[in-house]
Amino acid sequence: MLRILNSSAAGRVFKNQVLMPVGLACRSYSSEAKKMTVREGLNTALDEEMAADPKVFLMGEEVGEYQGAYKISKGLLQKYGPERVVDTPITEAGFTGLGVGAAFYGLKPVVEFMTFNFAMQGIDQIINSAGKQCYMSASQINVPIVFRGPNGAAAGVGAQHSQCYAAWYGQVTGLKVLAPYSSEDARGLLKAAIRDPDPVIFLENEILYGESFPVSAEVLDASFCLPIGKAKVEREGDDVTITAFSKMVGFALKAAEILEKEEIRAEVINLRCIRPLDRSTINTSVKKTNRLVTVEEGFPQHGIGAEICASVVEEVFEYLDAPVERIAGADVPMPYAPNLERLALPQIDDIVRAAKRACYRSVPLAKAA
Ligand SMILES: *[C@@H]1O[C@H](CO)[C@@H](O)[C@H](O)[C@H]1NC(C)=O
Repeated sequence: MLRILNSSAAGRVFKNQVLMPVGLACRSYSSEAKKMTVREGLNTALDEEMAADPKVFLMGEEVGEYQGAYKISKGLLQKYGPERVVDTPITEAGFTGLGVGAAFYGLKPVVEFMTFNFAMQGIDQIINSAGKQCYMSASQINVPIVFRGPNGAAAGVGAQHSQCYAAWYGQVTGLKVLAPYSSEDARGLLKAAIRDPDPVIFLENEILYGESFPVSAEVLDASFCLPIGKAKVEREGDDVTITAFSKMVGFALKAAEILEKEEIRAEVINLRCIRPLDRSTINTSVKKTNRLVTVEEGFPQHGIGAEICASVVEEVFEYLDAPVERIAGADVPMPYAPNLERLALPQIDDIVRAAKRACYRSVPLAKAA
């Protein structure tokens, strides 16, 4: 019996990781035309998926009458009514469990957390009830649920409201973990998450909600969807690979511009997906550049950078010409004071210096902020 359970579970993971909607995506989209904020990207993705599938519904604190704490659900209550846009009490443990139960019975809930810091109240439901049900029911019960909301630091909200949970959820088998950067990511990945048969953790960033990005006609099409498990090379280069996700992709791209002035061509990989991790894209890039810098806002110990470093050491060690550089948040609870908060988070200059170290260029000492 155990063997049967194991093999069916393993088969599912393999199927989901390899046979995601590849045909729909993996193309590079031209970036002329319109601009859209990440907030609009998320809002339109929710709207279109709710219109396409009556099983999809949204629940969370202030998602209805108030239109969302960050206005991601703007207009949806008016359009779909209170049965499909459900205002919940302030009780994450309760409504997270309610959502998971609804998913067991075939609905497709999108559960909004006002911040992923508050999801700690419902983490047993996320990990034990949602993440393990498919395996423990021998694939008889799918859990098509999305948990979404802002993750990581915003600005000046203190230690208990500033943590990045990418590494926490990235460690859990049974979950898929996405982290969009641009409006294209927000739209394409949220649609993929809602359509996926498994529980998906969808890590947004409060600072990015208001940022505008160019979007092509393909991205604006209602059928647009990105594959889960595929990273995007945002910028090509052959001197050093920089991996990043969420807001840090923007920092890595700015660092790459600075590095280019000193004739260091950095390749910037937007991970998009934390689990499953696109090891093959990282692999290919490191084989070309022979140098790697990982960037994340979260804590350094047992982080995403640690996993990527281990993966590269296991798979393409002989291609590395320099030690892997890890840029992460400081190993302290997030300070409230703005000057200390800045010091606790990775800055563009940190990425530039790490890339130069990897390329054996001389690096001036960091200036105190
Ligand atoms: C990474 O590259 C190595 C060496 O070419 C190869 O053995 C391994 O299968 C690759 N892994 C992935 C996930 O592509």
